[in-house]
Amino acid sequence: MTKDPKGRKQPGFQRHAFVCGHERPEGAARPSCTPKGSMELMRSLKHAVRERNIEGVRVQKSGCLDYCEYGPTCVVYPEGTWYSLTDERTLEAVLEHLASGTIDPSCTLKMD
Ligand code: FES
Repeated sequence: MTKDPKGRKQPGFQRHAFVCGHERPEGAARPSCTPKGSMELMRSLKHAVRERNIEGVRVQKSGCLDYCEYGPTCVVYPEGTWYSLTDERTLEAVLEHLASGTIDPSCTLKMD
């Protein structure tokens, strides 16, 4: 039987944050998140999760999340809460969401 190196007994995470790491060529019809710094932001989130010992969460790169115009785009499950990672306050809101489940509606993605 395979033994989990982290000692987990069941698969899964309490919360899962996906950060878009898609990049389109210059001149594409839609913008993309990587040129807006999404991968640096994802690394910042990962680092902060480790530093703050937030357990049971996973932050990882995703493909295009299809809200490209609002990027750098991030979504946190299981709540299905969307963020546009455009400032420090929003990054803090994502970290708080991951840590406690508390969602600050003023920081979630707003569509026009
Ligand atoms: S390129 Fe990031 S959401 Fe589409």
